[in-house]
Amino acid sequence: MPATDALSRSVTDALHRRRSVRAFTDRPVDPALLGDIFAAAQRAPSGGNLQPWQAIVLTGEPWQAVKDAVAERVAMGRAGYEPEYDIYPKGLTDPWESRRFGVGEGLYAALGIPRDDKPGRLGQFLHNYRGFGAPVMLFLHCSRIMGPPQWSDMGMWLQSVMLLLVEAGLASCPQECWAMYGATVRRTLALGDDQILFTGLAIGYADEDAAVNQWPVPRVGLEDVIDWQGFGE
Ligand SMILES: Cc1cc2nc3c(=O)[nH]c(=O)nc-3n(C[C@H](O)[C@H](O)[C@H](O)COP(=O)(O)O)c2cc1C
Repeated sequence: MPATDALSRSVTDALHRRRSVRAFTDRPVDPALLGDIFAAAQRAPSGGNLQPWQAIVLTGEPWQAVKDAVAERVAMGRAGYEPEYDIYPKGLTDPWESRRFGVGEGLYAALGIPRDDKPGRLGQFLHNYRGFGAPVMLFLHCSRIMGPPQWSDMGMWLQSVMLLLVEAGLASCPQECWAMYGATVRRTLALGDDQILFTGLAIGYADEDAAVNQWPVPRVGLEDVIDWQGFGE
């Protein structure tokens, strides 16, 4: 069991402790603990109470089968892509493009991989397709008929799960990179074409010593986000 002081006991604490963890130990995860977390996450809100989220949770051989299937596609280069959706809008402009660029630079700087080390950067990116060593992978999907409101519902469920994982001393990394090989993942999991894969979520115990888990990930200030109106009048 994790030390008690590693546990988060408030939403605020869990929000501050959660980060995308990109190196895990091989310590297995108790499925009963995950079951409790998913049961609590069912309290996530959704428009019309549709609860559109569905998930497949894998460990061991079934998880290895997905890694093997995607590795085959990755080896094909661009010809191997089977994208589920555009991960980012085409022609992403600022301020969003700078934020996206910035987080990549922060990650590679923490690992000491310079910009001109293309193989080094690619190698780090490809750790994604091993779930960064996580013993458990969750694939979040929904019916293809669902639209943006229901996708936002999936996000609320995902964040609920991630915060509950923190509370339990676990860590995670959401991974939409799997959607680049979405059809491959769905075929391997026998998920029908009526389903769309949103994201993976790598789950396990963080390797606390890994540099990749220690760099600060900035956020923009509230002045860029919140427009207060009618206060202080
Ligand atoms: C839906 C979703 C998908 C993501 N996909 C990936 C991914 O494929 N690979 C990755 O390394 N990080 C991925 N991330 C992590 C983001 O880069 C990260 O959340 C963001 O930079 C903020 O950092 P933090 O989560 O550590 O606070 C994803 C995050 C979300 C919410």
